[in-house]
Amino acid sequence: MTQNRVQDGTQVVAIDGPAGAGKSSVARAAAQVLGFSFLDTGAMYRAATLRAMRQGVPLDDSEALARCTAAMTYEQQESDGGTRILLDGEDVSESIRSPEVTRNIQHLDQIAAVRQHLVALQRDFGLRQPTVAEGRDMGTVVFPRSRCKIYMDASLECRVMRRALEMEAKGLAVDRDLLLQEMKARDDSNIARKESPLRPAEDAVLLDTTAMTKEQVIDTIVNLARERLAQ
Ligand code: DC
Repeated sequence: MTQNRVQDGTQVVAIDGPAGAGKSSVARAAAQVLGFSFLDTGAMYRAATLRAMRQGVPLDDSEALARCTAAMTYEQQESDGGTRILLDGEDVSESIRSPEVTRNIQHLDQIAAVRQHLVALQRDFGLRQPTVAEGRDMGTVVFPRSRCKIYMDASLECRVMRRALEMEAKGLAVDRDLLLQEMKARDDSNIARKESPLRPAEDAVLLDTTAMTKEQVIDTIVNLARERLAQ
């Protein structure tokens, strides 16, 4: 793949969809099969939220939240166990997944200046190397020229079950009713927000993974990427 084709953004595999659709794990696996880098953009919103919480920035002060985000140093490093996220040089891979961070992201992900800053970092990453990028606005906003856009969805019940199993495997106690309520609220907020709402790009392939295994989803993404990016 020539560097020019990477830099024009057509070669990014752009994956969007709601929370718990399994995007991260299949996107990471598909990137590995394709020999591409993997970009988890939700981790950036999580890191920005954690930074604001730690610095005591009022979560209703948009300007202060934008300043706090712009000042963060963010890095991702690939390791055998997955992707490590470094915030201001510290490994925060676990702490950005806490329920408190998850609950507070909605204060930041609605702010245009916060999004602009993170979108610039995402483009910088995705236009430097062949990338599988996943999030909420990859196909619509960040990489609109991508030739391979996928919108992954699954029923709410299925997404709750998958997320609960994932948390239980880490030894966490899970209240499934509460998880369902929180996931539904996050979906509603992502869909209804003014800035970059969650929706499929017009040219996205819709992939309902409710009745699919993880391996089937990975195969589908890899095949689609090979077909679309070879054109
Ligand atoms: O994918 P995730 O659950 O780690 O994402 C965390 C939150 O970040 C999610 O509630 C919505 C927000 N997000 C976003 O607004 N845009 C993105 N590209 C990725 C995530």
